[in-house]
Amino acid sequence: MNTPMNKQRAVSSKWTKTRVLARSNSLAPHIPTTRRLNRRTLSLLLKKHGMVYVKPVSGSCGIGVMRLDQQKGKWIVRDGRKRTKFGTFHAQFQWLRKRIRRKSYIVQRGIHVLRYKGRPIDFRVMIQKGRKAKWKVTGTAARVAHPRKAVTNGSQGGSIYSTRVLLRRTTGNKQARRLLSKFNRMARLTARRFSQAYPRMNELGLDIAVDRRNRAWILEVNTRPDPCPFTKLADSSMLRRIVRYAKGYGRNYSLKCIKAKRGAR
Ligand SMILES: Nc1ncnc2c1ncn2[C@@H]1O[C@H](COP(=O)(O)OP(=O)(O)O)[C@@H](O)[C@H]1O
Ligand SMILES: [Mg+2]
Repeated sequence: MNTPMNKQRAVSSKWTKTRVLARSNSLAPHIPTTRRLNRRTLSLLLKKHGMVYVKPVSGSCGIGVMRLDQQKGKWIVRDGRKRTKFGTFHAQFQWLRKRIRRKSYIVQRGIHVLRYKGRPIDFRVMIQKGRKAKWKVTGTAARVAHPRKAVTNGSQGGSIYSTRVLLRRTTGNKQARRLLSKFNRMARLTARRFSQAYPRMNELGLDIAVDRRNRAWILEVNTRPDPCPFTKLADSSMLRRIVRYAKGYGRNYSLKCIKAKRGAR
C-alpha cells in the first residue's frame, strides 16, 4: 500500500495518534480513555473519573490544555494559572464552549500523576531510528510543572530534571528501575506501532505519566519531538546522542531553547 498517509513523517492530530496507539493490545492498557470532546463525552468521562484533561486536537506546548475536576456539586477548570469554579455542569460547559470556540478538542481521562514538591511531573522519552532502521531509546527527561499550572511543558514554565533522580526521589530506587525499563518497553512498542502505520517516521517523543499506584500512562506521542528538554540536563550525553541520531536521518535541530528551566538540584 502506498497511500499518502503512510508517507507521512509527522502527524499532528492527537485524535489520530491516540487511535493508532489504542490499536495495539499491549499499549491499550497504558492509554487513558480518550474521546472527541462534546457535552456527552465530557459528562461521561467526568462522572466516571472525576477528573479529565481537554486538549486541542492539533496543539502543542501545552497551549489550550485544561484540567477539569468534578467534586460534590462543584466543577473546577484549571486553565493556565487561572482556576474557575462552577455550580453546575451546564455552567462549566457553557464557559468551555466559549473558551474553545469552534476548535476541535479531545477529552481524556485525567491521571493523578506523581508530584514533586507538590508539582505534577511527567517524562519525555525520545526514541529514534538509527542505522539499519533500528529504533533506539536515545534519552529521557523528567518535567516538573510550574507551581501554579497543571501542564509540565517547558514552554509553560516547567523545569527539567534527570529522570533517574526524580523517579528515585518520588518512587524509590526499586520502582525507579522498574519504571525506567517500562518506559523503554512502551517506547519500543509505540515505535513499532507507529512505523507500521507510517513507515517513513523516524523519531518519536512520548509524554509518559506515572500515577500514584506507579502505573505508567502515555499522555501523548509527539511525531516531531522537541530536543529542548535535553539541553537542560546536567549530563549532555543524551543530547549529543539525540543530535547524532537525528543527523542520521537528515534532521538538524535548532537548539536555541530559552523557555524551559533547569530544575534545582
Ligand atoms: N490525561 C492527562 N492526565 C494528566 N495530565 C495530563 C493529561 N494530559 C495532559 N496532561 C498534562 O498536560 C501536558 C500537555 O498535554 P499534552 O497532551 O502533552 O499536549 P501538548 O501537545 O500541548 O504538549 C502534559 O505534559 C501533562 O503535564
Ligand atoms: Mg506534550
